[in-house]
Amino acid sequence: MEDYSAIIDGAVERLRPLCAERCKTGLILGSGLGGYAEGLENARSLSYAQLPGFPVSGVPGHAGRFVVGDRFGKRVIVMQGRFHFYEGYPAPLLALGVRVMRRLGVETLLLTNAAGGVNLSYRPGTLMVIRDHINFAGVNPLIGQNDDSFGPRFPDQSRVYDPGLRAALRETAEAEGVPLTEGVYMMFSGPSFETPAEIRMARALGADAVGMSTVPEAIAAVHCGMRVLGISLITNMAAGILDQPLTHEEVQETANLASKQFTRLVDAAIQHVF
Ligand code: HPA
Repeated sequence: MEDYSAIIDGAVERLRPLCAERCKTGLILGSGLGGYAEGLENARSLSYAQLPGFPVSGVPGHAGRFVVGDRFGKRVIVMQGRFHFYEGYPAPLLALGVRVMRRLGVETLLLTNAAGGVNLSYRPGTLMVIRDHINFAGVNPLIGQNDDSFGPRFPDQSRVYDPGLRAALRETAEAEGVPLTEGVYMMFSGPSFETPAEIRMARALGADAVGMSTVPEAIAAVHCGMRVLGISLITNMAAGILDQPLTHEEVQETANLASKQFTRLVDAAIQHVF
């Protein structure tokens, strides 16, 4: 299996000058949510293509770069565009961005995604803080030789999404008047959307939302000792709930329409949670 430590070291070396002081907070922006990075002050960016050996994500709606900038006086590092299992990357590569951030000093990671609503009380535009996940994609970024410098071989997963951060986010969302629900995110590999039968299964198993990302990054982040917070924007009701086909365009469109509320929530998190 390929050793990714040289790629991580190379990226850290290039990015470190942008993180003059340590970047303590990291963000990974999901489909259609990348616009949040445009609101950073003193922003500087490096595209993945400028980082030696770094893979380049080719999904529409994903810019493919790191952006470092300030928001409310806090320096944050953002991945505008992530790597998905369905793009064909080997499992350990899905941990790459998270590990780069860790080496740069990130202690708290906010993962965001667009997701399909499984819970029948959800609507397109619903914001959900992730309470827990179900890894149904059959991929784990820690497969392969363990790098002990990041974390242990068999990391505990009983509290992937930090309870304190979740409580603080719910509190600040309420104070800001941003409706926020809490639920379980279930990852499917994609790239095909799920079938109605799979969505009924997901609901029976306790999922509130489904998507094709986030879980590998959350696993990698917890492994290397980060505190993790996750936010799903429900962009569509999952397959079979409404009598209409699912499209990536719908996902992006709803993400754009809901971007104002999403921005308010992430802003509140940066101001009051991190
Ligand atoms: N399924 C999987 N991934 C998604 C969906 C969905 O319905 N919507 C946005 N990402």
